Amino acid sequence: MIEPVFSPSPGRYDTMAYRRCGRSGVKLPVLTLGMWHNFGSYKPMQDIKAMAHYAFDKGICHFDLANNYGPEYGTAEENFGRLMDGSFRPYRDELFISTKAGWDMWPGPYGNWGSRKYLMASLDQSLKRMRLDYVDIFYSHRWDPETPLEETMQALVDAVRQGKALYVGLSRYPAAQMRQAYDYLAERDVPCLLYQDRFNIIDRAPQRNGLVDLSAENGTGFISFSPLQQGLLTNRYLNGVPADSRMARGTSLREDVLTPAMSVALRGLAALAEQRGQSLAQMALSWILNYKNVTSVIIGASSVAQIEDNLKALGDSGFSAEEYRRIEELSAPVQL
Ligand SMILES: NC(=O)c1ccc[n+]([C@@H]2O[C@H](COP(=O)([O-])OP(=O)(O)OC[C@H]3O[C@@H](n4cnc5c(N)ncnc54)[C@H](OP(=O)(O)O)[C@@H]3O)[C@@H](O)[C@H]2O)c1
Repeated sequence: MIEPVFSPSPGRYDTMAYRRCGRSGVKLPVLTLGMWHNFGSYKPMQDIKAMAHYAFDKGICHFDLANNYGPEYGTAEENFGRLMDGSFRPYRDELFISTKAGWDMWPGPYGNWGSRKYLMASLDQSLKRMRLDYVDIFYSHRWDPETPLEETMQALVDAVRQGKALYVGLSRYPAAQMRQAYDYLAERDVPCLLYQDRFNIIDRAPQRNGLVDLSAENGTGFISFSPLQQGLLTNRYLNGVPADSRMARGTSLREDVLTPAMSVALRGLAALAEQRGQSLAQMALSWILNYKNVTSVIIGASSVAQIEDNLKALGDSGFSAEEYRRIEELSAPVQL
């Protein structure tokens, strides 16, 4: 059967909100679609297509990838390449596509961490898999304590100079190295566009460590990953562990996080969300999007219905002081 040509909704920019990314010319949708878990070789291509098409139709034009997303490693990028060829090629200039290198990707000393050797080779491989000439943003995926910071940063600068990336970003950097990295990049006229870290109702590390404020002072946007703590902050685990869930697969979200204290907190938060007319997922997303200096949140969905549910967070009008107080009270015992 010949598949119909993808034609996105003409109203795709009508309902999404876009925020300026730090002190840059770039605006990002407040919801970004991340491809860490549900876009690799284990997921049927028709499901991947349905989620990506739906997201783009709703104004989600930022897609977040990394070299080792899948599972298996590399397959999310390969499937994104298929999406480019089958659907998105005519819309390339409407898309903001990221990739990263810094975690394990291939065996041996050159397939991990922060060397120039690894970052340059990995970016070339990512471009081939995604069938792209350039990515919009290339990240150093984590700080490498053994490689001179200058070497990692210069690889990012050179990726831009070579036309393989338009902007650069950092993920998972401690504050001191972040500051140094921001200075190095700015001195070479390749300012850091975006900083990416886990930030959600029960993981406040970037707030505690001053990373959100530091990024804002530098003119760098802040994008939160795992805003739903991999699905914990949804209605998914209120009554046990569903068979088709990330927790049941037991890879990055282990069952032992669902302690009795966590279940109490999640039920309390879900009840509060319900009073606000939201699902727990929507309230968790609203909470981050109301946090000062957050540019976007990267959601990782396993179905179109989840993206649809998460998009409803957009209509939220904010929290009362009492609601903020309740969220603090309920989440305090389970803060990571
Ligand atoms: N820079 C980094 O080091 C780093 C690290 C991790 C992630 N990331 C990025 O951040 C993205 C998002 O991370 P994440 O996947 O952990 O995000 P997340 O949004 O916290 O969790 C996604 C999971 O939550 C569940 N879910 C989502 N919406 C739901 C809803 N409305 N109702 C019920 N359940 C819902 C789904 O679980 P089920 O699969 O169980 O249905 C989904 O797979 C990744 O794809 C990646 O792009 C970056």
